[in-house]
Amino acid sequence: MNNDRVLIFDTTLRDGEQSPGASLKVNEKLAIAHQLARLGVDVIEAGFPIASEGDFEAVSQIAKSVKGPVICGLARANPRDIDRCWEAVQPAEKPRIHTFIATSKVHREEKLRKSPEEVIDLARKAVRLAKSYCDDVEFSPEDAARTSLDYMCDVVRAAIAEGATTINIPDTVGYSEPSEFGGRIRYLFDKVPEVRKVVVSVHCHNDLGNAVANSLAAIENGARQVEGCINGIGERAGNASLEEVIMNLVTRRDYFQLDVGVNTRELYRSSRLVSSLTGLELQRNKAIVGDNAFAHEAGIHQHGVLSSKRTYEIMKPEDVGWTGDNLVIGKHSGKHAVMALLEEEGFHLDSDQIRQITAKVKALADKQKNVEREDVIAIARDISHQLSDEEQLVKMIEFSVTTGSGMMPTASVKLDVDGKMQIAAGVGDGPIDAVSNAIWQMVGADYQLQDYHLKAITGGTDALADVSIKLRDQKGQEYRARSVDEDVIRASAKAIIKGINKAMVSQEKRRLHPQHNGQ
Ligand code: KIV
Ligand code: ZN
Repeated sequence: MNNDRVLIFDTTLRDGEQSPGASLKVNEKLAIAHQLARLGVDVIEAGFPIASEGDFEAVSQIAKSVKGPVICGLARANPRDIDRCWEAVQPAEKPRIHTFIATSKVHREEKLRKSPEEVIDLARKAVRLAKSYCDDVEFSPEDAARTSLDYMCDVVRAAIAEGATTINIPDTVGYSEPSEFGGRIRYLFDKVPEVRKVVVSVHCHNDLGNAVANSLAAIENGARQVEGCINGIGERAGNASLEEVIMNLVTRRDYFQLDVGVNTRELYRSSRLVSSLTGLELQRNKAIVGDNAFAHEAGIHQHGVLSSKRTYEIMKPEDVGWTGDNLVIGKHSGKHAVMALLEEEGFHLDSDQIRQITAKVKALADKQKNVEREDVIAIARDISHQLSDEEQLVKMIEFSVTTGSGMMPTASVKLDVDGKMQIAAGVGDGPIDAVSNAIWQMVGADYQLQDYHLKAITGGTDALADVSIKLRDQKGQEYRARSVDEDVIRASAKAIIKGINKAMVSQEKRRLHPQHNGQ
């Protein structure tokens, strides 16, 4: 094992996909996995095969087609999970089974209801079974950061004795402070000398905002694999942001003296792809990949940067693949200009999608002087997120709205609901409210609109309207949808209908394939 190299383990498709509202389709997961291979991550955790048919399918397709990184699947410490995981990852060039069991007192007593000895026994059996299938086995004591140090060491010893090749120490609830977490890794190296024969990994959640700092502290104390997600997405406040971990190691190589095997120029593209496919937008000031990461606003900074970039720039934007040019597309730009821009943004589109996007961009360019990068991205996102015909149980046929000063807006909406035409009228505080009230009357009884967000893409009264919404069903499941249109009322109606379709399709899938629960 090369001790000067930090392995990058990407769990965007597994832990990242557990971000509320971020569910991805199989083809979207495949696109992200191919991009992660281009980025050069060492391991892709492609999913949790027992969780659903969709997860199994995604892991197995990624295992069959993505070459380069190790392809890993997650399994709880029980034979059913491990068998299913092996079935999914087996076709990979380099398969890995990642099995885990919770070890902290609170999880053992309140979730598993098992004694410390029983948990060690389950961990042993799980690693033994995984090892009988696959040479490459990772073991995680879940909630390790809240597990007593000596018990954590006992569990790790048992897993290594059964043949685990990577030991991952998770801070499952993002509770640790950096020096404390670094100390935990040092303790492990001191008390369990056999960890030197395996890879010690860390997996930090960001509940207190410490995920990247904790991961780096662990590296300083001997960890040589870091788990995280592109854009730091994941359960609750997310996982360690991989682009931040990577650029710390690369930019401060003088300090860490360690290497990573990734092509940092693919970071920006990876970030945009994950953001556009999950619908999880980046904050503008997000480190490394946010819109403002390389922007200098203050006069004194601009002056410094113009004299010498080194005054305020610690990284070059092109090192993360950010070209920064706000390429303007006009009505004379062809599909190649559109394709080049979208490729840079991480989109992988088929020729029909490119044709549709180019046509919309040209139509917009006819109406507004400049079509900017953000406009093209919004149109592409809208078209690449279109639901397939089978997924459109509800379709908008037509709508009309009457509004004016001193009158209550009223709307009439005609929908095709699973093949049957329905018409309803609605009134509301504004025209959008009136249209959505009409839609709810026909199909909304089971859903609540939790969030409505309207953004004008590039400013001006003729700007594209970008509407994102969040619906919640009666079981508390949330669905996000987004739509773009030149007409704000149409964009809103399309987003609500897309959300309802997503909810209906997902409820139908859950009815056919109920999730497997319980350790
Ligand atoms: O956060 C966690 O503990 C996990 C494990 C499955 C590694 O995601
Ligand atoms: Zn996690």
